[in-house]
Amino acid sequence: MNLILLGPPGAGKGTQAKTLQEKFGFIQLSTGDMLRTAVAAGSEIGQKAKAVMERGELVSDEIVTGIISERIDQPDCKDGFILDGFPRTVAQAQALDDMLAEKNMKLNIVIEMRVDDEKLVDRVVGRYTCADCGEGYHVTYKRPAVEGVCDKCQSKEFKRREDDNAETVRGRLQSYHAQTAPLITYYGARGKLKTIDGMASIKAVSEQIQEILNGLGK
Ligand code: AP5
Repeated sequence: MNLILLGPPGAGKGTQAKTLQEKFGFIQLSTGDMLRTAVAAGSEIGQKAKAVMERGELVSDEIVTGIISERIDQPDCKDGFILDGFPRTVAQAQALDDMLAEKNMKLNIVIEMRVDDEKLVDRVVGRYTCADCGEGYHVTYKRPAVEGVCDKCQSKEFKRREDDNAETVRGRLQSYHAQTAPLITYYGARGKLKTIDGMASIKAVSEQIQEILNGLGK
């Protein structure tokens, strides 16, 4: 099963992709995570992406399409993958169509997670992750069971993303509405789109996704 989680910053794409990966073994392919790794490593791609990401703008289609194409070729993607944060422009969606056709692969479904803008700022600004295993948390919506200790790996070190501040989130939301939201029409016209209520609780959102996958025989 190959699927896209489509939604604005803070919609819950990463949260749900991790759950799907644990449950079904589909591989989470987050272009945001891949770019952050490149920035941390100081690679050529990372150097090009750094300032763009800090402004909340989009990295070039060419860079992200190349990263995804290489990653999909890895053997662990054979049994399914979840695209989280890609595609983000119509040009990227067209490139994805071409690359999947070339690789003899298929896109099963695009799940749009719909959340109001005011809620998104609150979600992104309150987000933090475990510095060791990457488990995601939120100051209000998802706190560790024991305060200050990661549920997954018991680490006491946490970190926040540099672009998770109110100002950059507004830039990211603008980019989403101008460049990514047209994908709703793109995939709708191809009969690939299902929309869910991303305002619901994390568990209720997982249930809506599961219902869609049940309908596809998973
Ligand atoms: P990226 O890393 O993809 O960020 P994003 O799309 O802005 O998405 P987020 O990771 O912020 O949100 P999410 O939907 O995963 O939410 P999460 O599950 O963490 O991209 C970063 C940057 O990289 C971009 O700005 C761009 O510059 C560049 N980039 C990346 N891909 C690119 C591409 N294809 N083309 C060009 N440039 C690209 O949830 C957020 C918080 O809310 C968490 O704390 C979570 O616990 C909580 N939460 C989640 N669901 C719920 C719920 N249902 N109820 C309550 N709380 C919830």
